[in-house]
Amino acid sequence: MAVPKWVQNTSRLAVVLAILAGAQTASSQPVTEPGFSGSEASAAAEPRGYRFSGPPERPRRHFRVSNPAILSAAEAESIYDGLKAEMARRYAASGDAAAASYQGWARFNTAPYGSSTHGRRYVNNYANDIARGYGKAGTAGRLPVGSIVAKDSFIVTEKGEVQPGPLYVMEKMPAGFSYVTGDWRYSVITGAGELAGRTEGPGAARVEFCIACHLAREKEDHLFYVPESFRSSP
Ligand code: HEC
Repeated sequence: MAVPKWVQNTSRLAVVLAILAGAQTASSQPVTEPGFSGSEASAAAEPRGYRFSGPPERPRRHFRVSNPAILSAAEAESIYDGLKAEMARRYAASGDAAAASYQGWARFNTAPYGSSTHGRRYVNNYANDIARGYGKAGTAGRLPVGSIVAKDSFIVTEKGEVQPGPLYVMEKMPAGFSYVTGDWRYSVITGAGELAGRTEGPGAARVEFCIACHLAREKEDHLFYVPESFRSSP
């Protein structure tokens, strides 16, 4: 089993291994969206923290993990507990302010859940104080300028490979920033701590597919919100 170097010497490893051994046969309720499992020809792990599907300069969709492990909420939370400090450290290396602080914000999901729309990675959704209305899931109207919603991610494969994935960020910019995004600025920061793409910024074409999918929710301020079964109100 391939274990990243930075995990190898931590006491958490034993915990992660025990959890994954159990995950193979777990009968507890899995925490994934429909369409989460299934196999694809692509490799399991992401070199340098992120891969795109389609041309790298203009991806068509997220790279999808070929063989994600199906975890229970407790398993997913426990693995995340062991990873989150390292994830924060890596994202912060990008120099992005949200990447450096998002783990101190409120988290709006009860446990990491498998997101089929974000490459079959396990994800968490955090929002800053200005974006508190995010927890009202559509009844708060448009979120104010300065709102930031950050979704971190990690990969767990059936083989037990555990790896930080990208940080996905949506930040509400002043009116007039971009009509097509509803003034949201999308960013992707890789699990290796690099800014891969940003609306109206470097690598903007790499986040166009984000806009296209989120546009389906134009009436809800381009937000999908945490799937109901994983929602918490911090
Ligand atoms: C195929 C559709 C799809 C694509 C492509 C997509 N998203 Fe999402 N996004 C969703 C859905 C559905 C949710 C809520 C459920 C979930 O977390 O999986 C969501 C949630 C989010 C959230 C939390 C805010 C919210 O809407 O509730 C952020 C931040 C986010 N996405 C950023 C991105 C970024 C950045 C990209 C591009 C790299 C991207 N998304 C691409 C469908 C998509």
